[in-house]
Amino acid sequence: MFITFDGGDGCGKTTQILRLADWLNQKGKEVVMCRDPGSTPLGDAIRNILLNQRDLKMSSISETLLFNAARAQLVKEIIRPALEQGKIVLSDRYLLSTLAYQGYGGEVPLPLLQQVGAIATSNLLPDLGIVLDLPLEIAQTRAGKRGSLDRMESKAAEYHRRVRQGFLECARAEPDRYVVIDASDSIEAIATAIRAAVEPMLV
Ligand code: TYD
Repeated sequence: MFITFDGGDGCGKTTQILRLADWLNQKGKEVVMCRDPGSTPLGDAIRNILLNQRDLKMSSISETLLFNAARAQLVKEIIRPALEQGKIVLSDRYLLSTLAYQGYGGEVPLPLLQQVGAIATSNLLPDLGIVLDLPLEIAQTRAGKRGSLDRMESKAAEYHRRVRQGFLECARAEPDRYVVIDASDSIEAIATAIRAAVEPMLV
């Protein structure tokens, strides 16, 4: 089973992924966690280009291709093999982030992103996508507390407003795949809502 976590910056994905992994482990499930972009040597190198070089000039198309290059390697090296071994894969971000950030934020046409995404993943979509939704003001306060902003986080507020809108619109367009959870709730309440979405899918 393949479960992805997406949402704006500072939405608390990482905490929730760890909690869900613990819960699944307690149920005797084998879990593989990964992050997109990252989790492979190539993915980590691309991630460094994408996030740590704040003044690097990069068009939305270049950005799209780099995120998808990292993702192609992640799918091939980590996600597909784990799924083939019957493991549960939890990915910190996936395709939906490209639609929201590069599509709604960066204004790359969505059909083009879907095409590139399909090539990168050879059409692998999550069985369940958790979308953690957070109002911009709360997200910004959290990001500020974490210290300096990376290249994506330092984009304008209007960009991040569109990204949030993108997550909500895309998730609502595919209600059988995506679940939107209010990330301004307590950590415990969010974890409970995520478990409630996952539980019916466990065999
Ligand atoms: P992440 O490591 O999840 O950052 P954070 O913990 O701050 O949420 O994600 C890295 C950044 O890359 C984040 O700002 C979202 C962005 N991103 C895209 O713009 N497009 C994508 O396809 C992906 C996967 C991430």
